[in-house]
Amino acid sequence: MSEKIRVLIPEEDVNKKIGEVAARISRDYEGRSVHLICVLKGGVFFTCELAKRLTVPVSLDFMSVSSYGSGTESSGVVRIVKDLDEPLEGRDVLIVEDIIDSGRTLAYLIEILKQRGPASIRLCTLLDKPERRVKKQVTVDYTCFSIPDEFVVGYGLDYDQKYRNLPYIGVVEF
Ligand code: IMP
Ligand code: MG
Repeated sequence: MSEKIRVLIPEEDVNKKIGEVAARISRDYEGRSVHLICVLKGGVFFTCELAKRLTVPVSLDFMSVSSYGSGTESSGVVRIVKDLDEPLEGRDVLIVEDIIDSGRTLAYLIEILKQRGPASIRLCTLLDKPERRVKKQVTVDYTCFSIPDEFVVGYGLDYDQKYRNLPYIGVVEF
């Protein structure tokens, strides 16, 4: 292991912020149920922590997509590796992502999911790198942290499939 991990956002701060965002979502969806769509694998830790703190009724589904592209740039052409188990018809959908970078993956995913007739679609992300956005039409409804353009791991995010289990957000130093 040649890389080092520097703590960017400590565990306490991440958990506190998720609580605040969950409270906002619970207020916004008052009187309704929210259907969380966890984008695997990165979104899984955040989805669990968020879901535990929501006070409105919650249902969960999972989707795994892979973005064609070379190296670190996603192309925006997305292949569905694992589709949802349930239809979205009439549901209030909240997509839960680990990080929005260029926005290409999400732009494509939102288009696919809109065609399935949900009552509404919103987007919630643990991290956002606004400087990197290419797809300006991707609007994030709930963001826990906006971060600078650095490669981060932890809380679901990986470097080469490693470090997803770190309970904090760290920057990889090569
Ligand atoms: P986008 O299509 O460029 O927005 O790609 C977003 C995806 O790239 C995320 O879902 C992550 O899987 C990955 N990604 C982007 N930035 C990072 C990072 O800093 N660490 C780990 N994965 C990242
Ligand atoms: Mg992801």
